[in-house]
Amino acid sequence: MKIIKVNDLNVSYDEKLILKNLSMSFEKNKITAIIGPSGCGKSTFLSTLNLMLEEQGGKYTGEVIFKDRDIREYNRDNIRKAIGMVFQEPTPFPLSIYKNMIYAPVYYGIKDKIKLQEIVEYNLKRVGLFEEIDKELNMSAMKLSGGQQQRLCIARALTVNPEVLLLDEPCSALDVKNTAIIEEMLLKLSREYTIIIVTHNLSQARRISDYTAFILNGELVEYGETEEIFSNPKDNRTREYLEGIYG
Ligand SMILES: Nc1ncnc2c1ncn2[C@@H]1O[C@H](COP(=O)(O)OP(=O)(O)OP(=O)(O)O)[C@@H](O)[C@H]1O
Ligand SMILES: [Mg+2]
Repeated sequence: MKIIKVNDLNVSYDEKLILKNLSMSFEKNKITAIIGPSGCGKSTFLSTLNLMLEEQGGKYTGEVIFKDRDIREYNRDNIRKAIGMVFQEPTPFPLSIYKNMIYAPVYYGIKDKIKLQEIVEYNLKRVGLFEEIDKELNMSAMKLSGGQQQRLCIARALTVNPEVLLLDEPCSALDVKNTAIIEEMLLKLSREYTIIIVTHNLSQARRISDYTAFILNGELVEYGETEEIFSNPKDNRTREYLEGIYG
C-alpha cells in the first residue's frame, strides 16, 4: 500500500526552482532511502512531506497525498504528529530525558502520569536507551553522548505514534557503533512505521532500505527497489553517482 503519493511536485525558494516535476509514492512500512549529491534538494523534499517547507520560506505546487488526502487539507499539528522528523544533528531539548520524552504527548493532550511513564519507558526501551541510562530519567539529555542523543530524538519522535518517520542523515554525526545500533533499530521499526531516510552513506542505503530514490539537481532520476538500483541502475547518471563520480 502507498502511504504517501507525490504528484508533479515543484518546489521553489525565492522563485528558484529546487525540485522539478517530482512524482513518486512511498510504500507503507518499508524503508525508502533518498540519495543524491549535496544541494540536490533532499532536505527540501523531506520538509515538503510534513508541511515544514513554508516555515523555511519555500513554496510548492503539485500534490502530496497522505493516506488519500492532500496534506494541505489536514491540520498542521495532525500532519506533524502523523509524520515525524529527525534531523542530522541530534536536537534534544536542554531538559531532562523524561521531559524530552513527555513533551509531545503532553502537547497532544495526554495528562495521565502512569500513561506518560509507560510511553517514556516503552519508547526508550525500543531505542536501547532505557537500560543504558540505568533508568535515570531525570538526567539532563545534554549529558548523553551524540549517539545516545540521536536515539533519544528518535524515541521522542515515536512518543506520539507517528505513521511515517522522516530522517535527514540521522547517522552522519555518529560513529560506526552508534550507526549500527540505529540501523538495526530502523530495520525493526520498519515493521510498524514507514521510514524515509536521507543518507549520504550509500552502503547504509543498500543495507537498510527496501527502495531507493536518486535525486540529481532537483530531478528524480531513478526510483525503485534498492537492490535493483544498486546492482543494475537504468540511468547512466545513477550509475555514475553510485560509482562516486558526483562525490
Ligand atoms: N530555506 C532556504 N531558503 C533558500 N534556499 C534554500 C533553503 N533551504 C535550501 N535552499 C537551497 O535549496 C537547494 C537544495 O537544498 P537542500 O538543503 O534541500 O539540499 P540537500 O540535498 O539536502 O543537500 P545536503 O546533502 O547538503 O544536505 C540548495 O540550493 C539550497 O541552497
Ligand atoms: Mg540536506
